[in-house]
Amino acid sequence: MSQNNHRASITGTGAFLPPKRLTNFDLERMVDTTDAWIIKRTGIKERRVVENGVATSDLASKAALRALEDAKLSPEDVDLIITSTVTPDNLFPATSCYVQQKIGAKKAGAFDVLAACAGFIYALSIGQNFINAGTASNVLVIGAECLSKVTDYTDRSTCILFGDGAGAIVLQKGNGHCEVLTTLLGADGSHTDVLTLPAGGSKIPTSTKTIEDRLHYIKFRGREVFKLAITNLTEVIRQTVATSNLKMEDIDLFILHQSNYRIIEATMERLGVPMDKIFYNIDKYGNTSSASIPIALDEAKREGILKPGNLVLLAAFGGGLTWSSSIIRW
Ligand code: UT7
Repeated sequence: MSQNNHRASITGTGAFLPPKRLTNFDLERMVDTTDAWIIKRTGIKERRVVENGVATSDLASKAALRALEDAKLSPEDVDLIITSTVTPDNLFPATSCYVQQKIGAKKAGAFDVLAACAGFIYALSIGQNFINAGTASNVLVIGAECLSKVTDYTDRSTCILFGDGAGAIVLQKGNGHCEVLTTLLGADGSHTDVLTLPAGGSKIPTSTKTIEDRLHYIKFRGREVFKLAITNLTEVIRQTVATSNLKMEDIDLFILHQSNYRIIEATMERLGVPMDKIFYNIDKYGNTSSASIPIALDEAKREGILKPGNLVLLAAFGGGLTWSSSIIRW
């Protein structure tokens, strides 16, 4: 599914990372692992985790307020809040409703999107469509996660990867800057079992047994996900560039979902893109699922890496399977 337009613009970005750091050395004391193994296999040195009592909407609200300030808007100006998350405050109501209340966006509609690590670009594409259709003027698109709440810190194969954080953007009708040129979405439901949080939904409701079996934590088959990620990211990036009538070398900066540095490296190698065109911060934050792209976009902007007119390609891959990609003219 793809769409082309020259209308929606990103007029503000913001991010929030909880201050508490969980380093590889901390993990060495929790499971049988080493700092050297984690860095070599993933590129991660540390990640952020929330304190007890902090929920996804707390991180999302802080990122959203920063994005609104950057766009010079007040919460009352927001028409729509779309939050992508796999770690909602509750199964329902939507985390976006908590955000609406916390930031005081009294006029806004609010709902969540679930497309796992690919979800932020799914949410971006929905927001873009609302702007294009003229049914919303100021849309807040958020990616926010508290993955530490669903991470099994006794399982060394998963607990080394994940971190908490939130990023947000404001979408408004295009003003010639930071225009979303293309978004492309895809999925393959034949691999739902390779990356999942098994219990707590209607299929396997929470019970004493699911808790004993630790099914309320993220489970994945790492090597399979690793290979599928590279294949599907490579393909969706090629398609997005072709759909936009561009060549790979036209793209100035690639911001990929921060899942594993080796996945990013292998994808770039297949595409023939030099690594100096990559922005990454996985070393500092680990894999923050939906939040990784908007956090990276905000950081790249604040570090002055994004220059007016630059073509930026965002791409993500996650459980579902889902994948998504977007090209923005900064
Ligand atoms: O955003 C999408 C979500 N991301 C994912 O679902 C993860 C994608 N997969 C990956 O990032 C990688 O597969 C991992 C980082 C999870 C694992 O890296 P790998 O290079 O694929 O390692 P592996 O699973 O093939 O394991 C290699 C060895 C095994 O030991 P043996 O069987 O060779 O003796 C593991 O038991 O490394 C062992 N191992 C560890 N050793 C030290 C697995 N986890 C650890 C660990 N520390 N934390």
